[in-house]
Amino acid sequence: MNAVEIIEKKRDGEELTREEIRYFIDKFTSGDILDYQATALCMAIYFQGMTRRETSDITMAMAESGEILDLSDTLGYVVDKHSSGGVGDKTSLIVLPLVVACGVPVAKMSGRGLSFTGGTLDKLESIDGYNAMLTRQQFLTQAKDHGIVLTGQTADLAPADGKLYALRDVSGTVPSKPLIAASIMSKKIAGGADGIVLDVKVGLGAFMQTVEDARELSQIMINIGKDAGRQVTALVSDMNQPLGYAVGNALEVIEAIDTLQGRGPEDLIEHCLVVAGHMLRLAGKGKSTNLSDVRPMLEEKLANGEAWGVFRKLIEAQGGNVKQVDNPNLLPKAPVVAEVESPQSGSIQMIHAKEIGLTALNLGAGRHSKTDPVDHAVGVVVHHKVGDRVKKGDRLCTIHARTEEAAQIAEERVLAAHAWSDEDVEPLSLFYDVLFSE
Ligand code: URA
Repeated sequence: MNAVEIIEKKRDGEELTREEIRYFIDKFTSGDILDYQATALCMAIYFQGMTRRETSDITMAMAESGEILDLSDTLGYVVDKHSSGGVGDKTSLIVLPLVVACGVPVAKMSGRGLSFTGGTLDKLESIDGYNAMLTRQQFLTQAKDHGIVLTGQTADLAPADGKLYALRDVSGTVPSKPLIAASIMSKKIAGGADGIVLDVKVGLGAFMQTVEDARELSQIMINIGKDAGRQVTALVSDMNQPLGYAVGNALEVIEAIDTLQGRGPEDLIEHCLVVAGHMLRLAGKGKSTNLSDVRPMLEEKLANGEAWGVFRKLIEAQGGNVKQVDNPNLLPKAPVVAEVESPQSGSIQMIHAKEIGLTALNLGAGRHSKTDPVDHAVGVVVHHKVGDRVKKGDRLCTIHARTEEAAQIAEERVLAAHAWSDEDVEPLSLFYDVLFSE
């Protein structure tokens, strides 16, 4: 076997064998197959696609390129969630405490933000002292003692994916469905998840632009899960406009706290209840696919403050300053806070998620390359949802910036991200579909 023959075979539209895929991924991980050869294979896969069998084989080869965690002794049935990336997506901060408050432990490894999408770890690091880089032993001890962990990757999980993603990112090969599916599922499988809820975003601020594409990606991941003996539920959810109102690290932590204390935006609450409900169902707490049997318990845990209590416990367990979550005024604050008014009256027709995400990124909330530091204080808070009626002069957005100049640039960009209509506009759906592996 050699790398060139495997690349040529895929280039010509032939199906690769399990052995060829395993050989390529193993040799790429060890450095014997070179970056430009792996990039060529990704481009061939981008154009030729992969069969179900090939996709499952590349997923398992990537999952097994590093350590496979076994959390069954610590947690029993291991349930996890994954969002394909979004703007204002602070779901994990709310969903994990909710699920744990309902009696299902969760130990989750999250990522950092890249490009216009935010990352859970960056948000949590707005809190002084929060340790998002637990060691493997700290991870296991905290899972056992507290039943909730939210940290970065502790082990050498799916190293082939990390290496391959870095090449895909700079070679125009990220948007290949089998490669996205293998990338996401290899990490979840290596992380030891038995049940996985996938939140597959679709729209202006997502990789997938159409519901059809998002559905197809979801089905590929469900098939991988089935082939690997995992239960998967995939939600196809809206990412045309930001989720909730806040976009930016500390701003999103504040919105998550508000939500856990019963003052959250309606769309965010509903989104979190649905994701949490599907996690509980996979963990055996409910049977109904419409979540009617777990919903009352989730609503109660939100209303009675138990989920909020679990969030506080999580912050404390990971060394974060609990005073800052008890009093969010103590979280990092931007020196410039500028209000943006609506330049016209009408119904809001568009709040372009990617443009709002890029505005927050350029204010400093995200990073252009992996090693950039992030500014936890800055970002954008939108004050409306698509379908809202506004009057000229109404508050449209609030910009949190380091300088007046940065705020001015952001103001122009957020205004251009909005569109108005004289006619009534239907609110956007939160979810477009849900797919089950069973
Ligand atoms: N998220 C991932 O983890 N991998 C991809 O390829 C795309 C989104």
